[in-house]
Amino acid sequence: MEFNGEAILITGGSGGMGVAMARRLAISGARVALCDLFPDAIDRAVAELAEDGIEVIGVTADTTDEESMRAAVATVVDRWGGLYGLITAAGIRQTAAGFQDLDLADFEKIYAVNVKGTFVALRAAAPELIKSKGAAVTVASVTADGARINQSAYCSSKAAVLNLSKQVALELAGDGVRVNILCPGVTMTPMIEQAMRTDGPNLLKEKVGGSLEAFRPGIPLGRLAEPDEQAAAAEFLLSPKASFITGTAVYVDGGVSMLV
Ligand SMILES: NC(=O)c1ccc[n+]([C@@H]2O[C@H](COP(=O)([O-])OP(=O)(O)OC[C@H]3O[C@@H](n4cnc5c(N)ncnc54)[C@H](O)[C@@H]3O)[C@@H](O)[C@H]2O)c1
Repeated sequence: MEFNGEAILITGGSGGMGVAMARRLAISGARVALCDLFPDAIDRAVAELAEDGIEVIGVTADTTDEESMRAAVATVVDRWGGLYGLITAAGIRQTAAGFQDLDLADFEKIYAVNVKGTFVALRAAAPELIKSKGAAVTVASVTADGARINQSAYCSSKAAVLNLSKQVALELAGDGVRVNILCPGVTMTPMIEQAMRTDGPNLLKEKVGGSLEAFRPGIPLGRLAEPDEQAAAAEFLLSPKASFITGTAVYVDGGVSMLV
């Protein structure tokens, strides 16, 4: 058990990675709040975990809205007396499009959720993380350091998440708060399944069908990640085992980031 009842809030908590993270952290002894946009999806996620005997609470909030995120943090603090950890897993993908064709409104939406949403969540949680000398894990992507065809807004938004998180890590280090960045490679979640269904042929350099298997040849370990493999890294980064690690990006990508 890595935790002893510490409260952890996960944005994007009813998404593929969010639920896996909630499951793992709760089994590890944390109290977990799933924070997401849609009450129905949150209820389904809470019920899915309850079926396995895992108790978490759901909080509806929009991570792009500061008041909404402050209210989500307040809900957790009212319930459990404080907040030790934050994971910012809320994010949206980009419909595959060249940068000249991408609708500007789509660009702005991607930046609003991925970048501003991370900023707002970190800011809403910071006062409580300072009190608890807690930790945060933001979720960028292996694509934060590189380029992927027809993904200019998504990849650059994740680069911004990576650097923003380092800025916040530096500012909070003096308060004893750690902030690290998870950079997932392709992971079997609804986000990636939907991306391949609708955009498969435009997402990779080679013309491929809508199958997730198309990613496989580009991944040195030869397979996609399971959401629990991302959750394991997040658990480590929040846990006392990572007590001297801050401002660090951890790549859980099957080796993709080592390729030139
Ligand atoms: N799945 C992958 O292959 C992959 C790879 C690299 C990075 N990522 C990143 O990991 C994170 C989790 O992705 P996932 O695969 O679980 O996707 P997902 O679509 O299953 O989950 C994302 C969740 O974010 C929520 N969300 C969207 N906008 C929100 C808002 N304004 N406020 C609150 N919640 C909001 C959605 O409702 C959804 O539940 C994302 O940031 C994604 O960009 C995913």
